[in-house]
Amino acid sequence: MNKVLGSFVILFLLLHGCTKDDAIIANLPPQPDTGSTFKPTPYLLEIPFGLPPLPLQPNNPLTVEGVELGRKLFFDKILSRDLTQSCGSCHNQLFGFTDNGKRFSMGITGAVGVRNSMPLFNLAWVEQFARTNHRFFWDGGATNLESQAIDPIINPIEMDDSLPNVLNKLRNHPQYPAMFKKAFGSDSITTAMLMKALAQFERTIVSGGTRFDYYRRGFNDEALTPQEKRGFDLYVREDKADCFHCHSVGPFMSDFSFRHNGHQSTDVGLGRITNNPEDNGKFRVPSLRNLVFTAPYMHDGRFATLEEVVEFYNSGAIRTAPADPVLTKHPHGLELTEAEKADLVAFLKTMTDSTLLTNQKYFP
Ligand code: HEC
Ligand code: HEC
Repeated sequence: MNKVLGSFVILFLLLHGCTKDDAIIANLPPQPDTGSTFKPTPYLLEIPFGLPPLPLQPNNPLTVEGVELGRKLFFDKILSRDLTQSCGSCHNQLFGFTDNGKRFSMGITGAVGVRNSMPLFNLAWVEQFARTNHRFFWDGGATNLESQAIDPIINPIEMDDSLPNVLNKLRNHPQYPAMFKKAFGSDSITTAMLMKALAQFERTIVSGGTRFDYYRRGFNDEALTPQEKRGFDLYVREDKADCFHCHSVGPFMSDFSFRHNGHQSTDVGLGRITNNPEDNGKFRVPSLRNLVFTAPYMHDGRFATLEEVVEFYNSGAIRTAPADPVLTKHPHGLELTEAEKADLVAFLKTMTDSTLLTNQKYFP
């Protein structure tokens, strides 16, 4: 009996020890292929008020050298076939990292896409809190930021290049080989390193500290005006605007789920990825932060203003299946008064962080 117990204890210690070591190893920066001079500097990200700590990325920890490389790549047109387009072309900081107020983006060949460019901030938490492997893009077509970045580079209606060609250009560039070496400790430049560097930079784009954050999480009652507070009240009331079931009360202003919000678009969204007809028309619930910079709205950018969005939920949205149950429970629409609609719009604007547009860490 004691012997059996003893082996259990040993087994437990072994397993326990093993798990702990793995965790420690996983948290070390990526190791070099050769040489011992590789010492990337851990990147200390300042988290704005209202957001939780950044989730650990054991396989791709933030380093000063990696983020710097990712930033250069993000704004470099070298990633497109004819050197005319960078990630930043369609994700402009001055528009909350969306495409310059355009409804749809145009790729290097002049081909126009069918989805509205998405804002890029607080993306590290999408990975942490999404409940499925469908995370990035309107339709959940990418699982993590590393794999996401391949799509725009090789997409014929975006940067239209091939990975071997991009890697070739980077290898023959006067600066990149040294920068990759500093970031990843290796003389070679691989697709994995390219993706990791872009993802590192993207994870540093964080946005919080808005008046709503101080009201809600700082318990500062003065942070909102009476009208904005009425708007928030409508936002969380099930018998009124009832937005919070999908967009949450923060900190991300989305529950990162995929839902059908009553639109009449023929784009099947998540259904394209899962091939499940029940997912047709579902899109990732977007964050409501920084909306004043990111118009137009929805996956197809069909609304130019927040007033139009609120009127859509008030009276335009389909309120029968396949719309989400949160919508079908208000079969007659929201029946908000003009004053209430204005209050709701005023509230939406309290989630504005203008430092996102001026933060030099995100400059090219
Ligand atoms: C031609 C314009 C264009 C270019 C260039 C472009 N993007 Fe995008 N990006 C978009 C559009 C449009 C979407 C939404 C696509 C969809 O959901 O189908 C998007 C979505 C994304 C998302 C998903 C965000 C989320 O919340 O799920 C990320 C991340 C992203 N892009 C990063 C990049 C990176 C990194 C590059 C450069 C390698 C890049 N983009 C280049 C237009 C562009
Ligand atoms: C059933 C879940 C659900 C409810 C309830 C809901 N939304 Fe949405 N919301 C979504 C989804 C999903 C999208 C994206 C739909 C698309 O792209 O077509 C969206 C998009 C938006 C957008 C566009 C954001 C952008 O970046 O393009 C705004 C603004 C918005 N909702 C505000 C609201 C407000 C205000 C309410 C309450 C009146 C509300 N939502 C209620 C799920 C919901």
